[in-house]
Amino acid sequence: MQRWTLDLKRPDWRNALEASAVCSAITNGELVAVPTETVYGLTADATNGEACAKIFAAKGRPQFNPLISHVASLADAQRHGEFDSQALDLAKAFWPGPLTLVVPKKKTSTISDLATAGLSTVALRVPEGPVMRFLSEKTGCPLAAPSANRSGKISPTRADDVIADLEPCLSFIIDAGPCSIGIESTIVGLTDGTPRLLRPGGITREDLQGVLGSSLQGAPTNVQPDAPEAPGMLLSHYAPNATMTLNACEAVPSDALLSFGPDRVPGADQAYAEFNLSPRGDFAEAAANLFRGMRTLDTSGADTIRVQFIPSFGLGEAINDRLQRAAAPR
Ligand code: TXA
Ligand code: MG
Repeated sequence: MQRWTLDLKRPDWRNALEASAVCSAITNGELVAVPTETVYGLTADATNGEACAKIFAAKGRPQFNPLISHVASLADAQRHGEFDSQALDLAKAFWPGPLTLVVPKKKTSTISDLATAGLSTVALRVPEGPVMRFLSEKTGCPLAAPSANRSGKISPTRADDVIADLEPCLSFIIDAGPCSIGIESTIVGLTDGTPRLLRPGGITREDLQGVLGSSLQGAPTNVQPDAPEAPGMLLSHYAPNATMTLNACEAVPSDALLSFGPDRVPGADQAYAEFNLSPRGDFAEAAANLFRGMRTLDTSGADTIRVQFIPSFGLGEAINDRLQRAAAPR
């Protein structure tokens, strides 16, 4: 595996990347880890079934769980999916950005059935992170990219997280530093005339509803761990090795503490280890720190991570979604 450090503040990063062997690795069906504004993605040519099969194998991901295809523009997305007026409104409002739209897959789409798990729908995203868009444009491929972690484990927000989990499977990793948003994209389903929030994420429910002018239906609740209706909504996910306990009212010396905001829970100073997601109580900062905080406390040696209460509006909804899955029985 070759590590490519990219300074996105330098105007010539595109030339450097284009001159590298990264694009040909992708068109040759190899796996490349690519940063986005949400998390690092384990990326392959979405039109190449064998390359997509490598993603499932590397992650240990069940093949019924489809992948998101990343493209450079709405026009590119429309080659693969049918966009009704609500889908178009959302795409125009939030792309490029941390929003994935699940729409009917076009019969003429070249995205492999493995990437879409044989479904008649396709998940499409135009990320704000410019590296993924650039690679899609240069290779001419929609890029399948799940989060670059072993299936069910904590998502990666830094190159080192990816390397720790997946190094043997990668041809390249592009290291552009920590991801700015730090939790995955929001997923909205637009396949039956009713917009549905399939996964809360980097765009808030409130912002989506502002554009749609109506309230979003929630994800289906009758989810079975082995046959989820919204494929990726497995109850246990983002799981650290430590046990997680939510809404802790106090800290104890044997347990690590994942705290939030300026208010201290009783005993906080005696906690085994502590990571404050945002000492000033800012949701965006907390989201950006969430997976790093979980990883840090997971390696602290404590068997249990207690999590302080975090309100559930705005980005708090996505943060609580990830925490609840991390705390779910396995
Ligand atoms: O921010 C993100 O979305 C990141 C970065 C890399 O872009 N990617 C990501 O991918 O989170 P992944 O594979 O970890 O999560 C994709 C989710 C899964 O829960 C999957 O089930 C769902 O998208 N999904 C994909 N295609 C779908 C479809 N056709 N219908 C319903 N859900 C779908
Ligand atoms: Mg994931």
